[in-house]
Amino acid sequence: MGRLEGKVAIITGAAGGIGLATARLFATEGAKLLLVDRVEAPLREAVREIGPGSASHIVADVTRPEDVQRYVAAAEERHGGVDVLINNAGVLGLVQPITDYPVDVFDKVLAVNVRGVWLGLKYAMPAIARRGGGSIVVTASTAGVRGSLGLSAYVASKHAVVGLMRTAALEGAAQRIRVNSVNPSPIETAMVHELEAGLVPGDRAQAKAALAARSPLKRYGTPEEVARLMLFLAGDESSFCSGGIYMIDGARTAM
Ligand SMILES: NC(=O)c1ccc[n+]([C@@H]2O[C@H](COP(=O)([O-])OP(=O)(O)OC[C@H]3O[C@@H](n4cnc5c(N)ncnc54)[C@H](O)[C@@H]3O)[C@@H](O)[C@H]2O)c1
Repeated sequence: MGRLEGKVAIITGAAGGIGLATARLFATEGAKLLLVDRVEAPLREAVREIGPGSASHIVADVTRPEDVQRYVAAAEERHGGVDVLINNAGVLGLVQPITDYPVDVFDKVLAVNVRGVWLGLKYAMPAIARRGGGSIVVTASTAGVRGSLGLSAYVASKHAVVGLMRTAALEGAAQRIRVNSVNPSPIETAMVHELEAGLVPGDRAQAKAALAARSPLKRYGTPEEVARLMLFLAGDESSFCSGGIYMIDGARTAM
Protein backbone atom coordinates (compact mmCIF):
# COMPACT_ATOMS: atom_id res chain seq x y z
CA MET A 1 0.00 0.00 0.00
CA GLY A 2 1.30 3.44 -0.95
CA ARG A 3 2.36 5.84 1.77
CA LEU A 4 -0.26 8.41 0.65
CA GLU A 5 -3.05 5.95 -0.13
CA GLY A 6 -6.46 7.55 0.45
CA LYS A 7 -5.02 11.07 0.73
CA VAL A 8 -5.80 14.07 -1.45
CA ALA A 9 -2.91 16.47 -2.04
CA ILE A 10 -2.91 19.94 -3.58
CA ILE A 11 0.44 20.94 -5.08
CA THR A 12 1.00 24.57 -6.13
CA GLY A 13 3.74 25.40 -8.59
CA ALA A 14 3.11 21.93 -10.01
CA ALA A 15 4.24 22.98 -13.49
CA GLY A 16 7.72 23.68 -12.12
CA GLY A 17 10.63 21.44 -11.26
CA ILE A 18 10.05 20.66 -7.58
CA GLY A 19 6.24 20.65 -7.85
CA LEU A 20 6.23 18.24 -10.77
CA ALA A 21 8.73 15.84 -9.18
CA THR A 22 6.60 15.89 -6.02
CA ALA A 23 3.44 15.18 -8.03
CA ARG A 24 5.07 12.21 -9.75
CA LEU A 25 6.29 10.72 -6.47
CA PHE A 26 3.02 11.32 -4.61
CA ALA A 27 1.10 9.62 -7.43
CA THR A 28 3.26 6.49 -7.14
CA GLU A 29 2.46 6.49 -3.39
CA GLY A 30 -1.29 6.44 -4.04
CA ALA A 31 -2.32 10.09 -3.55
CA LYS A 32 -5.07 11.81 -5.50
CA LEU A 33 -3.66 15.09 -6.78
CA LEU A 34 -4.86 18.55 -7.67
CA LEU A 35 -2.07 20.26 -9.60
CA VAL A 36 -2.10 24.08 -9.47
CA ASP A 37 -0.08 26.59 -11.47
CA ARG A 38 -0.59 29.78 -13.45
CA VAL A 39 0.57 28.09 -16.70
CA GLU A 40 -1.67 25.41 -18.15
CA ALA A 41 0.21 23.41 -20.81
CA PRO A 42 2.69 21.67 -18.46
CA LEU A 43 -0.15 20.91 -16.02
CA ARG A 44 -2.13 19.19 -18.79
CA GLU A 45 0.97 17.20 -19.74
CA ALA A 46 1.56 16.20 -16.09
CA VAL A 47 -2.04 14.99 -15.70
CA ARG A 48 -1.75 13.01 -18.94
CA GLU A 49 1.48 11.39 -17.70
CA ILE A 50 0.29 10.66 -14.15
CA GLY A 51 -3.15 9.55 -15.29
CA PRO A 52 -6.45 11.44 -15.10
CA GLY A 53 -7.71 8.86 -12.58
CA SER A 54 -5.10 10.07 -10.08
CA ALA A 55 -4.63 13.73 -10.95
CA SER A 56 -6.46 16.77 -12.22
CA HIS A 57 -5.32 20.33 -12.75
CA ILE A 58 -6.52 23.88 -12.26
CA VAL A 59 -5.01 27.13 -13.51
CA ALA A 60 -4.78 29.62 -10.67
CA ASP A 61 -2.72 32.61 -9.61
CA VAL A 62 -1.78 32.01 -5.97
CA THR A 63 -1.71 35.75 -5.26
CA ARG A 64 -5.48 36.05 -5.88
CA PRO A 65 -7.80 35.08 -2.99
CA GLU A 66 -10.59 34.01 -5.36
CA ASP A 67 -8.20 31.71 -7.24
CA VAL A 68 -6.97 30.11 -4.03
CA GLN A 69 -10.55 29.56 -2.81
CA ARG A 70 -11.30 28.05 -6.22
CA TYR A 71 -8.45 25.53 -6.05
CA VAL A 72 -9.37 24.43 -2.52
CA ALA A 73 -13.03 24.04 -3.56
CA ALA A 74 -11.98 22.07 -6.65
CA ALA A 75 -10.01 19.59 -4.54
CA GLU A 76 -13.02 19.06 -2.28
CA GLU A 77 -15.50 18.74 -5.17
CA ARG A 78 -13.36 16.50 -7.38
CA HIS A 79 -11.56 14.39 -4.80
CA GLY A 80 -13.71 14.63 -1.66
CA GLY A 81 -11.46 16.71 0.57
CA VAL A 82 -7.94 17.98 1.26
CA ASP A 83 -5.38 16.10 3.39
CA VAL A 84 -2.15 17.68 2.17
CA LEU A 85 -1.16 21.08 0.80
CA ILE A 86 2.25 21.49 -0.80
CA ASN A 87 2.39 25.29 -0.74
CA ASN A 88 5.23 25.54 -3.21
CA ALA A 89 4.69 28.12 -6.01
CA GLY A 90 7.39 30.76 -5.96
CA VAL A 91 9.40 33.26 -7.97
CA LEU A 92 13.03 34.40 -7.66
CA GLY A 93 12.82 38.06 -8.65
CA LEU A 94 16.00 39.81 -9.75
CA VAL A 95 19.62 39.61 -8.63
CA GLN A 96 20.35 43.25 -7.73
CA PRO A 97 21.67 45.06 -4.67
CA ILE A 98 18.95 46.61 -2.49
CA THR A 99 19.89 50.10 -3.65
CA ASP A 100 19.17 49.19 -7.30
CA TYR A 101 16.30 46.74 -6.74
CA PRO A 102 13.07 47.84 -8.51
CA VAL A 103 10.20 48.45 -6.08
CA ASP A 104 7.64 46.74 -8.32
CA VAL A 105 9.73 43.55 -8.50
CA PHE A 106 10.08 43.54 -4.71
CA ASP A 107 6.28 43.75 -4.41
CA LYS A 108 5.76 40.97 -6.96
CA VAL A 109 8.14 38.56 -5.20
CA LEU A 110 6.43 39.21 -1.86
CA ALA A 111 3.00 38.78 -3.48
CA VAL A 112 3.73 35.30 -4.84
CA ASN A 113 6.06 33.95 -2.16
CA VAL A 114 4.38 35.38 0.96
CA ARG A 115 0.81 36.41 0.15
CA GLY A 116 0.40 33.30 -2.02
CA VAL A 117 1.57 31.00 0.77
CA TRP A 118 -0.54 32.85 3.36
CA LEU A 119 -3.65 32.58 1.17
CA GLY A 120 -2.99 28.86 0.75
CA LEU A 121 -2.86 28.45 4.53
CA LYS A 122 -5.91 30.65 5.06
CA TYR A 123 -8.19 28.74 2.70
CA ALA A 124 -6.78 25.20 2.90
CA MET A 125 -6.56 24.91 6.69
CA PRO A 126 -10.37 24.82 7.17
CA ALA A 127 -10.64 22.17 4.44
CA ILE A 128 -7.91 20.05 6.07
CA ALA A 129 -9.62 20.50 9.45
CA ARG A 130 -12.85 19.11 7.91
CA ARG A 131 -10.91 15.88 7.20
CA GLY A 132 -9.82 15.66 10.83
CA GLY A 133 -6.29 16.93 10.18
CA GLY A 134 -3.45 16.63 7.70
CA SER A 135 -0.16 18.09 6.62
CA ILE A 136 1.00 21.33 5.00
CA VAL A 137 4.49 21.81 3.62
CA VAL A 138 5.70 25.23 2.54
CA THR A 139 8.72 25.50 0.28
CA ALA A 140 11.13 27.98 1.83
CA SER A 141 14.86 27.97 0.99
CA THR A 142 18.30 28.27 2.52
CA ALA A 143 17.41 31.94 1.84
CA GLY A 144 14.85 31.51 4.62
CA VAL A 145 17.56 31.15 7.27
CA ARG A 146 20.48 33.22 5.91
CA GLY A 147 21.14 36.28 3.77
CA SER A 148 22.18 36.18 0.13
CA LEU A 149 23.85 38.93 -1.89
CA GLY A 150 21.50 40.51 -4.44
CA LEU A 151 18.43 38.54 -3.39
CA SER A 152 16.82 40.89 -0.86
CA ALA A 153 13.21 40.33 -1.96
CA TYR A 154 13.62 36.57 -2.22
CA VAL A 155 15.43 36.34 1.13
CA ALA A 156 12.80 38.51 2.83
CA SER A 157 10.03 36.38 1.34
CA LYS A 158 11.56 33.07 2.42
CA HIS A 159 12.24 34.30 5.97
CA ALA A 160 8.57 35.38 6.04
CA VAL A 161 7.46 31.94 4.88
CA VAL A 162 9.26 30.36 7.83
CA GLY A 163 7.36 32.69 10.16
CA LEU A 164 4.07 31.81 8.50
CA MET A 165 4.87 28.11 8.80
CA ARG A 166 5.61 28.43 12.53
CA THR A 167 2.43 30.43 13.19
CA ALA A 168 0.28 28.04 11.15
CA ALA A 169 1.78 25.09 13.05
CA LEU A 170 0.67 26.68 16.32
CA GLU A 171 -2.76 27.66 15.05
CA GLY A 172 -3.36 24.32 13.29
CA ALA A 173 -2.29 22.01 16.10
CA ALA A 174 -5.73 21.86 17.75
CA GLN A 175 -7.17 20.59 14.45
CA ARG A 176 -4.33 18.10 13.98
CA ILE A 177 -2.87 20.08 11.09
CA ARG A 178 0.91 19.75 10.93
CA VAL A 179 2.87 22.48 9.13
CA ASN A 180 6.56 22.33 8.22
CA SER A 181 8.97 23.97 5.81
CA VAL A 182 11.36 22.41 3.33
CA ASN A 183 14.42 24.61 2.79
CA PRO A 184 16.48 23.69 -0.27
CA SER A 185 19.78 25.08 -1.51
CA PRO A 186 20.05 25.35 -5.34
CA ILE A 187 18.04 22.59 -7.00
CA GLU A 188 18.25 21.73 -10.70
CA THR A 189 15.10 23.56 -11.96
CA ALA A 190 14.21 26.55 -14.15
CA MET A 191 14.50 28.83 -11.12
CA VAL A 192 18.15 28.08 -10.52
CA HIS A 193 18.88 28.80 -14.18
CA GLU A 194 17.38 32.27 -13.62
CA LEU A 195 19.68 32.67 -10.63
CA GLU A 196 22.71 31.61 -12.69
CA ALA A 197 21.82 34.14 -15.42
CA GLY A 198 21.44 36.88 -12.80
CA LEU A 199 24.74 36.07 -11.08
CA VAL A 200 26.99 35.77 -14.13
CA PRO A 201 25.14 37.10 -17.20
CA GLY A 202 26.16 35.16 -20.32
CA ASP A 203 28.05 32.37 -18.54
CA ARG A 204 25.69 29.98 -16.82
CA ALA A 205 28.33 27.27 -16.54
CA GLN A 206 30.59 29.54 -14.48
CA ALA A 207 27.66 30.56 -12.28
CA LYS A 208 26.67 26.95 -11.76
CA ALA A 209 30.19 25.93 -10.78
CA ALA A 210 30.37 28.80 -8.28
CA LEU A 211 26.94 28.03 -6.77
CA ALA A 212 27.61 24.30 -6.52
CA ALA A 213 30.99 24.94 -4.91
CA ARG A 214 29.27 26.76 -2.01
CA SER A 215 27.76 23.49 -0.82
CA PRO A 216 30.02 21.01 1.00
CA LEU A 217 28.49 18.25 -1.16
CA LYS A 218 29.64 20.32 -4.19
CA ARG A 219 26.53 19.97 -6.30
CA TYR A 220 22.97 21.08 -6.81
CA GLY A 221 20.19 18.96 -5.39
CA THR A 222 17.64 17.34 -7.67
CA PRO A 223 13.88 17.93 -7.62
CA GLU A 224 13.45 14.21 -6.86
CA GLU A 225 15.53 14.55 -3.68
CA VAL A 226 13.30 17.40 -2.52
CA ALA A 227 10.20 15.38 -3.44
CA ARG A 228 11.30 12.57 -1.11
CA LEU A 229 11.46 15.01 1.82
CA MET A 230 8.03 16.37 0.81
CA LEU A 231 6.72 12.78 0.89
CA PHE A 232 8.04 12.18 4.40
CA LEU A 233 6.47 15.39 5.71
CA ALA A 234 3.17 14.92 3.84
CA GLY A 235 2.55 11.39 5.08
CA ASP A 236 1.91 9.77 8.45
CA GLU A 237 5.57 8.76 8.99
CA SER A 238 6.15 12.36 10.16
CA SER A 239 3.19 12.30 12.59
CA PHE A 240 5.07 14.12 15.40
CA CYS A 241 6.78 16.67 13.12
CA SER A 242 5.26 20.13 13.09
CA GLY A 243 6.64 23.66 13.14
CA GLY A 244 10.01 22.43 11.85
CA ILE A 245 12.49 23.71 9.31
CA TYR A 246 13.79 20.84 7.17
CA MET A 247 17.02 21.81 5.42
CA ILE A 248 17.88 19.97 2.22
CA ASP A 249 21.09 21.70 1.25
CA GLY A 250 24.13 19.41 1.14
CA ALA A 251 25.34 20.94 4.45
CA ARG A 252 25.30 24.49 3.04
CA THR A 253 23.87 26.02 6.21
CA ALA A 254 26.12 23.93 8.46
CA MET A 255 29.01 26.17 7.36
N1 LIG B 1 15.29 25.64 -7.52
C1 LIG B 1 15.92 26.09 -6.45
O1 LIG B 1 17.13 26.23 -6.46
C2 LIG B 1 15.15 26.39 -5.19
C3 LIG B 1 15.88 26.51 -4.00
C4 LIG B 1 15.19 26.82 -2.83
C5 LIG B 1 13.82 26.99 -2.86
N2 LIG B 1 13.13 26.88 -4.04
C6 LIG B 1 11.69 27.07 -4.02
O2 LIG B 1 11.05 25.94 -4.55
C7 LIG B 1 9.76 26.30 -5.03
C8 LIG B 1 9.55 25.66 -6.38
O3 LIG B 1 10.47 26.24 -7.29
P1 LIG B 1 11.18 25.42 -8.48
O4 LIG B 1 12.60 25.34 -8.15
O5 LIG B 1 10.43 24.20 -8.79
O6 LIG B 1 11.08 26.52 -9.64
P2 LIG B 1 10.19 26.57 -10.96
O7 LIG B 1 10.39 27.93 -11.51
O8 LIG B 1 10.50 25.38 -11.80
O9 LIG B 1 8.69 26.40 -10.40
C9 LIG B 1 7.96 27.44 -9.80
C10 LIG B 1 6.53 27.32 -10.28
O10 LIG B 1 5.71 28.28 -9.58
C11 LIG B 1 4.77 28.78 -10.51
N3 LIG B 1 4.25 30.08 -10.11
C12 LIG B 1 4.94 31.24 -10.00
N4 LIG B 1 4.11 32.23 -9.68
C13 LIG B 1 2.88 31.71 -9.57
C14 LIG B 1 1.60 32.24 -9.27
N5 LIG B 1 1.43 33.55 -9.01
N6 LIG B 1 0.53 31.40 -9.23
C15 LIG B 1 0.69 30.08 -9.50
N7 LIG B 1 1.88 29.51 -9.80
C16 LIG B 1 2.96 30.33 -9.84
C17 LIG B 1 5.55 28.87 -11.82
O11 LIG B 1 4.69 28.96 -12.96
C18 LIG B 1 6.37 27.60 -11.77
O12 LIG B 1 5.74 26.53 -12.43
C19 LIG B 1 9.71 27.83 -5.02
O13 LIG B 1 8.97 28.28 -3.90
C20 LIG B 1 11.18 28.21 -4.87
O14 LIG B 1 11.35 29.47 -4.28
C21 LIG B 1 13.78 26.57 -5.20
